[in-house]
Amino acid sequence: MIPEEQIEKRIRELAQQISSDYEGKTIHLIVILKGSIFFSCELAKRLTIPVTLDFMSVSSYGSETVSSGRVRILKDLDESIQGKDVLIVEDIIDSGNTLAYLKDLLMARSPRSLAICTLLDKPERRVNNVDVKYVGFVIPDEFVVGYGLDYDQYYRNLPYIGVIEQE
Ligand code: IMP
Ligand code: MG
Repeated sequence: MIPEEQIEKRIRELAQQISSDYEGKTIHLIVILKGSIFFSCELAKRLTIPVTLDFMSVSSYGSETVSSGRVRILKDLDESIQGKDVLIVEDIIDSGNTLAYLKDLLMARSPRSLAICTLLDKPERRVNNVDVKYVGFVIPDEFVVGYGLDYDQYYRNLPYIGVIEQE
């Protein structure tokens, strides 16, 4: 669906945008494991402002391709985010349940600011209207893999975004 060169070009644009929006600040990236690791690395390398980062792991899908609407924290942050300019980095926003939940959870920990950056956005399936500041690509309602995204834990390492054909 999206070739590697196009993804990298878009990530450079996002990094430029974020670096200029956060000029004079340190940005604290929250990498949502495991899907957003590839995107986060490419993005972080291209930011020209000071960067710190932390990791969080939440469960949304099992091996199914439909959101359960429930979110469970598998690994919480190591450090406090109080007073920090926090940017959540996600691989994809689909129903919006995961990010809506995370945003509320992290807002309660008093960051100075909190915004969301996602590589992919599937707006057709949104049930939870969460405000996403940075979007790499808006895509149609198809199950995609690669660049960190998995199907039953496979395909994360594909260097492009591909489509799983459902039977
Ligand atoms: P949401 O809570 O429905 O917005 O789903 C977000 C999470 O579901 C993402 O972080 C992904 O892990 C997973 N997800 C949603 N759509 C896809 C897809 O097309 N491919 C792979 N994972 C997906
Ligand atoms: Mg994920």
